[in-house]
Order: sequence, then structure tokens, then C-alpha cells
Amino acid sequence: MIKSNILPGHVTVIMDGNGRWAQARGLERFRGHLEGVESVRDITEYAAQAGIRYLSLYAFSTENWNRPSDEVSGLMALMGRSVLNERPAFQKNNIRFRVIGDRDSLPPELLRDIEEAEKETENNTGLTLIVMLSYSGKWDILQAARRYAADVVSGQADTGLDGDAFSSYLSTAGIPDPDLMIRTSGEERISNYMLWQCAYTEFYFTDTLWPDFRRAEFAAALENYARRQRRFGKTEAQMEEE
Ligand code: IPE
Ligand code: IPE
Ligand code: MG
Repeated sequence: MIKSNILPGHVTVIMDGNGRWAQARGLERFRGHLEGVESVRDITEYAAQAGIRYLSLYAFSTENWNRPSDEVSGLMALMGRSVLNERPAFQKNNIRFRVIGDRDSLPPELLRDIEEAEKETENNTGLTLIVMLSYSGKWDILQAARRYAADVVSGQADTGLDGDAFSSYLSTAGIPDPDLMIRTSGEERISNYMLWQCAYTEFYFTDTLWPDFRRAEFAAALENYARRQRRFGKTEAQMEEE
């Protein structure tokens, strides 16, 4: 019998398809981003109620800085507004809010709003909601390698680096690796997301565009995950004995 994994501890989502959602309705791309915020709210509330420990959302990649400047500035402004709007809901639902990514690249006002929300919610004990902002997997591995190298040079680390020690240099240190990664919009690629952390993550791809992705389909993804058997390189028989 295939063992059920029940609930994933960490679900991560590559929220894709906002632009196509808008285009299909003859609207500007930005309307898709606005509607996408509604999906974020719905999925976050559902994840918190379901008892998921970590929900991370890929909101803006390192490569997304190369989009037209009005889209980039619109997204940064939308991020700031959303952080301010959602703070009461974070408190009400006992959600801890965090942002992971290259903070130095963010507009200073946005960074200030993010840091205030992080501080206000830091003692909340329910779901940890992580917004991956100005993030990429290669950026993360590089910043970890640079900090590790600096620690070796200063004598704070030795050269016997193992996987756990390397993970502690990643921007996701202390957060368990994703159990389930969902990508919407029909694209089946990793797009420079958590490259190290997704080594044994289960992937779930759906054609649904992010603004249409709501709790019913999220629940279906969780059910699909629960039917899978993760083996981590071992045999099926070994896993059944565990
Ligand atoms: C995802 O939707 C949001 C971001 C990457 C910021 P897209 O904006 O990529 O939408 P499509 O893929 O063009 O439809
Ligand atoms: C991935 O979506 C990044 C985010 C969802 C934030 P993209 O739309 O940027 O990915 P590609 O360019 O289609 O691979
Ligand atoms: Mg896209």
C-alpha cells in the first residue's frame, strides 16, 4: 500500500499566468496582477486554516527586473499596497509574514513596509507566509557561496562543507525544503526558482492561470500530493517499512 503523506509541511507556488489571464479578457496585463492578489489572499487563508506550516509564493524573480519598467514599478507598488492591506488579516489569522530575496534591490519605501509587517507578525505561531521577491535560485546559491567563502577566509568556517551546513547559508535557512511545488498556467519549468531546495520536491502542474487558482484547486493539489509515494532514492519496499 502506498503510504499517504497527509499534509505537506511546506507548499511553494510559482504563481504564473497573470498576463495571459488579462489578455484573454482584453484587459491590460496589470489587471491580471491585481486579480492575482485575490488568489494570494484566498490560498493563504485556506493554507492557514488547513494547518500548513509554510507557504512560499514566487512573486517576482531576478529576471522579472527585465520586464518593461512600468510593469516593474506597478508590481512593486502593488506589493507595497498589499503588504499594508493584509497586515490586519495576518494578525487575525496568526500568520507570520516574511520576505525572501535580494532586499538591496527593492525600493526603500517597500522595504520599510515589508520590515514593519515582518516585525509585527514575528511572534505569530500559525502559518508562515513567505513572499519570494527579487529572488532566484542561482542568486541564492551565489550569495550563500560568497558568505561561506568569507567565513572560511575569516576563520569562522572550515572547508569541510556538507549539505546541511550549505543550507544554513541559503536565504531559506531554517525553513524546511518544499514538499510540494505548484506551478500554474501550463508552463512546466522551474524558471530559476529554489534550485537547491527543490531537490526532492513533488511537482504539481496545472493549466489554470494564477488569477483563477483558488482554494478548491489548491485542495485538489494537496489531495494529489497525499496519494504520492516519496522515495528519496530508496526502493518502494524500503519506504513501506519506514
Ligand atoms: C506571473 O504572471 C506574475 C509574475 C511573474 C510577476 P505573469 O506576469 O508571468 O503572466 P504571464 O506568464 O505573462 O501570463
Ligand atoms: C516565474 O514566472 C516567476 C514568477 C512567477 C515570479 P515567469 O513568467 O517570469 O517565468 P518564465 O519567464 O515564463 O519562465
Ligand atoms: Mg509568466
